[in-house]
Amino acid sequence: MTDLRINPDRMLRNLAQLSEFGATGDGGVHRPALSETHLAARVWLCAKLEAAGLEFFTDAAGNHFGRLACGPDGAASLLIGSHLDSVPHGGRFDGALGVVAGLEVLETIRDTGLDLACHLEVVDFTDEEGTLVGLLGSRALAGALTPADLENPRGGREALADGFARAGITDPTAAARDPNTLAGYLELHIEQGPRLTAAQAAIGIVTALVGIGSFALAFRGRADHAGTTPMDARRDAGLGAAQLMVRAHDHVVSDYPGAVINFGQAEFLPGAYNIVPETASISLEYRAESQDRLNALERDLLDIAQETAAIFNLQLETHPQGCVAPAPCSPVVRSAFAAACETLDLKSMDLVSGAGHDTQAMTSVCPAGMIFIPSAGGSHNPDEFAESEDCENGANVLLHTALTLAAKGDF
Ligand code: HGY
Ligand code: MN
Ligand code: MN
Repeated sequence: MTDLRINPDRMLRNLAQLSEFGATGDGGVHRPALSETHLAARVWLCAKLEAAGLEFFTDAAGNHFGRLACGPDGAASLLIGSHLDSVPHGGRFDGALGVVAGLEVLETIRDTGLDLACHLEVVDFTDEEGTLVGLLGSRALAGALTPADLENPRGGREALADGFARAGITDPTAAARDPNTLAGYLELHIEQGPRLTAAQAAIGIVTALVGIGSFALAFRGRADHAGTTPMDARRDAGLGAAQLMVRAHDHVVSDYPGAVINFGQAEFLPGAYNIVPETASISLEYRAESQDRLNALERDLLDIAQETAAIFNLQLETHPQGCVAPAPCSPVVRSAFAAACETLDLKSMDLVSGAGHDTQAMTSVCPAGMIFIPSAGGSHNPDEFAESEDCENGANVLLHTALTLAAKGDF
C-alpha cells in the first residue's frame, strides 16, 4: 500500500467549492460558527459525505460525521477531521483543509476495498474558533464540555442562543461519546506561522498544543466633558485600558518568552468624541505551553490590571471566559506520522502548536495528534494561503498514518 496516494484534484476541487460558502471576495471566508454561511457549508458537506457512500450522522453538539464502515461490526472508529467554522473574515484553509483532506482519505481507502481493524470517520467539529464558546464540538464529544462553559461564552449568551436555535442544538453536553468507540483522532491543519517555511520542512508533527485562557475585563470610571474636565481630574476608563495593554505586552515580552497575549476586542462607552469614557470593555486572551506558566501569567496579568485601575481611580471587573489546558499529542500517533513522512520521503520537524485546535480536546479521550503544512500570508485573515502541493503532501501523510493505525485498531 506504500504506493497509494490521494486524488489531489478531487480534494482541491472540494476545497474550492467549500471556499464559496461565506466567500468574502478577497480570497477569505466569513463562516462564524452556526451562522447561515456555516450552516450552508454543512449542508454541502452532508451531500458530499452521502455522495461518497459514507454513513452521515450528527451528534447533540451539531458535529457532522461521515463513517466508512471498514472494520468489523462493533469496532471503534479512527476520526479524521477539523472544523468548517471560521473566524470573522478569516482564511479559506483554516479548518476547511482538514475536513476535505479527511473526506479525501476516506474516499481513497474506500476505493481500495480494504478491511481494517477499525472504522474510519471524517468529522467537522462545531465552533472550533470560539466565536461562540471555543472547541465546543470537540470538547462536547470528549465529554469535557460543562453547562458552566455555556454560562459565560466568549461570543456572548445571545449569540450562542441564536446559533443553537438556527442549528437545532439544545444540549451539546449530551454529545459525550463512549471513549471505547474512539480508536483515535488525526488532524491536518495549516501551520498559520513561519516555522516550516523557515526550516524548509514539508510537514510539522505537533508534539503539544498551548493552553489558552480568556477574560472579559471592564474598567469603570466616570463620563465627563472632554473639554472642560482638567486632565488630572478625570477617571478615564479608556486610558486605563490603554495603559493595561501596553504594560501587559511589555511584561509578557520581558518575563514570559514564548507566551503570548492578545486584546482582540475593545469598546468605550458612552462612546462619543466629546465624552471621557466611563466604561472600557476589553477582551484578554493569553497562551502558554504549560499549565504552571499559564496560571502564573494569568495571576500577573490580573495584578497589572488591578494596579492600573488604582492608578487611574477606576473600578475593575474581571470575568473568566473559559480556559483550555495545554495538551501533549499521542507519542504513538506522532511516530505513525513520522513513519508516513519517511514512506513519502517528506522532510518533517517536530513543533509545538501556538494555536488551539480540536486535537487539544481529543487528546483527553483518545490517542490524538496532528500535522501542519507550510502556509503563507499569516492566518485569521483573507491572505492565508497554502500551496496545492503542500495540501497534497499533508493529505498523503494523513492517508498513510490512518492506514497504519487503522490496521492496528487499538493503539
Ligand atoms: O485561536 C486559535 O488558536 C485557533 O485558530 N482556534
Ligand atoms: Mn483551525
Ligand atoms: Mn483558527
